[in-house]
Amino acid sequence: MQIAVNILILLDFCAMTTLHTKEELQTLLGPEKQNQKCIGFVPTMGALHQGHLTLVSRALKECDHVVVSIFVNPTQFNNAEDLAKYPRHLDHDLTLLSSLSKSILVFAPSAENIYGNQISARQYDFGALGQHMEGQHRPGHFDGVATVVSLLFDAVNPDRAYFGEKDYQQLRIVETLVQIEQRDTVIVPCSIARNSEGLALSSRNERLDDKQLKQALLLAGVLNEASKNFSTHSFQAIKNEAAAAFKKAPEFELEYFEIADVDSLVPTLTKDPEKKYRAFIAAQLGGVRLIDNLELN
Ligand code: PAJ
Repeated sequence: MQIAVNILILLDFCAMTTLHTKEELQTLLGPEKQNQKCIGFVPTMGALHQGHLTLVSRALKECDHVVVSIFVNPTQFNNAEDLAKYPRHLDHDLTLLSSLSKSILVFAPSAENIYGNQISARQYDFGALGQHMEGQHRPGHFDGVATVVSLLFDAVNPDRAYFGEKDYQQLRIVETLVQIEQRDTVIVPCSIARNSEGLALSSRNERLDDKQLKQALLLAGVLNEASKNFSTHSFQAIKNEAAAAFKKAPEFELEYFEIADVDSLVPTLTKDPEKKYRAFIAAQLGGVRLIDNLELN
């Protein structure tokens, strides 16, 4: 046990550590856990940007040790082309992380190390939470996400895990997963990081050219308009305005624009003054799938 603790102290002074197996990770972190140290975890699929880094910075402030996983999870992609084209550049990711802190433990496992020889998703029942919006448009996606998050949680055994509101439905699915599996990991929601013009940061933005990056501002624009009109317009009117804005922009293929209360995430046209709502959007731009959402108030 003392040896592992010393290794961790030593690692703080050296270059950042990248581990490729859950067994190595457990050897390092097991004793820390026993010593009541707080383990923070930020699961990612790499192609890191400032949005990811806001999660990691928060974890560094709140935890004794921070693990960032970089793993492009095959079971959550329901489109082979999207998986093949998902950006991968581990070296750049490591440079970004080490600019924050050399003490970060990077966990970059192979699919075999995480899944064993059966790379497939488990079947979960998240009820209505998983049935609409992303659940409807990406069948099987949340089973893949929940499976890998569960396997990663087994490997890291985190006290606190950080998830972005950029993937709001995913965040709520993970909160539910933790309840279903009776884990004591605290899920920490983190607000959406945007560029100076309002575009939600995303690994997929890398696949957009300069013109498309400007066009992509339509998502945030439509969400802001929805928020502006929330107290004066009906939900139907807000939806119609969003649809009209996308009709004027034929470079987009709108998958959905929905308003849902933040608890059930069931899209609705009826406003209950007791509930809190968010607007959600998914659209394809030049074959790149973009999502965004905003609290309405
Ligand atoms: P990935 O898309 O890499 O995102 C990793 C985490 O970063 C997620 O919690 C996501 O919501 C958050 N994030 C991404 N962009 C953000 C932004 N602009 N502002 C705030 N947070 C942002 O989400 C996944 O990976 C995967 O599904 C994963 C959970 C790792 C499971 O494979």
